[in-house]
Amino acid sequence: MAWKTMARVADMPTGTVKACRIENIPVALYNLDGEFFATHDICTHAHACLSDGYFEDGKIECPLHQGVFDVRTGKAVSGPVDVDLQTFAVRVEGDEVLVDVE
Ligand code: FES
Repeated sequence: MAWKTMARVADMPTGTVKACRIENIPVALYNLDGEFFATHDICTHAHACLSDGYFEDGKIECPLHQGVFDVRTGKAVSGPVDVDLQTFAVRVEGDEVLVDVE
């Protein structure tokens, strides 16, 4: 376990997604109705940052070809994507959102 602080809860309202980086790993952090999730930030289809995409109802739509992933599981759910995203464990401690990148 290698927990790293990625954001403050107060800086991430419900429905927001934030691009983070832990060493060389790009991570997208999501606030879904007060629950936080984290996935790899690069689409599995081509090189696009999912944190620039459209986040709604627990799903992120890739800004490049509109592939859709479930941010809770990383599962590729529609569009040209057929490879799931890597996900990371998230926990909240006080006002800090921590992600485990191992
Ligand atoms: Fe994401 Fe093509 S790069 S769907």
